[in-house]
Amino acid sequence: MYEANYSEVSEFVFLGLSTFRPMQHFLLTFSTVFYVTIVLGNLLVMFTVIFDSRLHSPMYFLLANLSFIDLCLSTLTVPKMISDLCSGQNAVSFQGCVIQIFVLHVLGGSEMVLLIAMALDRYVAICKPLHYLTIMSPQMCIWLLLGAWVIGLIHSVVQLTFIRHLYFCGPNEIDSFYCDLPRFIRLSCTDTYNLEFMVTANSGFTSMGTFFLLIFSYIFILVTVWKRSSGGLSKALSTLSAHITVVVLFFGPWIFFYVWPLPTVPVDKCLAILDFLITPILNPAIYTLRNKDMKMAMKRLSSQFPSLRKIS
Ligand SMILES: *[C@@H]1O[C@H](CO)[C@@H](O)[C@H](O)[C@H]1NC(C)=O
Repeated sequence: MYEANYSEVSEFVFLGLSTFRPMQHFLLTFSTVFYVTIVLGNLLVMFTVIFDSRLHSPMYFLLANLSFIDLCLSTLTVPKMISDLCSGQNAVSFQGCVIQIFVLHVLGGSEMVLLIAMALDRYVAICKPLHYLTIMSPQMCIWLLLGAWVIGLIHSVVQLTFIRHLYFCGPNEIDSFYCDLPRFIRLSCTDTYNLEFMVTANSGFTSMGTFFLLIFSYIFILVTVWKRSSGGLSKALSTLSAHITVVVLFFGPWIFFYVWPLPTVPVDKCLAILDFLITPILNPAIYTLRNKDMKMAMKRLSSQFPSLRKIS
């Protein structure tokens, strides 16, 4: 009797963000334009930092690495979403879905640690400027980066071992445009109450903990600056407001996905747009275009390229 009713699920179907035709056209245009901007903007940041030796400092290395993770994060979900919108074919294989969840958590975990590293960098630069070069040494940067990737990997492997034994017997429709863990778990036929708790603990509390840690450290930095001299505050505020905006926009949706106690509401798949299409654009936009050193570096770089062409 059991066997007759149960069938293994070999693929999932995304329901996407909207079934309304004009809305789909709008989403297609919007996500294509944004995705192209994300690719160009983040590549520009990475190339500028790598090729301009004057930007070889911890802050810019971390920034370039953040751009790299953002680019990967968008590439993991957005091209598939665009091709689904074009073709109307919304299927994804079971393995594809698991791989997407795995990579998503590696990247998400690494980005969290990287944001902490960037806050640490700003803390040392602003509060302990005399020790900046000894504390944020090149070795320290490598350790922070290594730490970010290792922690992301461990987090994701732990997450995946939780869901290893899930059994899927249909339905196979995911009401979103990518595979995320809460929706994936809810589709399984196994009793997932404990599992949902584990996932909330692992993803939800880590993202919430990191979020508050970051916000408090930025407040701490601002208070330190303010006590020292009120004149420095506005300058520090203009640097740090960019960081704080990114932190709020990056963590907001994650916290909402994993800690929100009620059944999934449709608004969360729209919030996912923030993480895959908006934050990745903000990094190059606010860190870079408002930053004088970065703008100068881009000018130098662009004036170098014609001469490179002449040589070859
Ligand atoms: C990341 O940072 C390291 C140094 O800390 C640097 O060598 C590397 O080029 C950076 N990666 C990217 C993609 O910019």
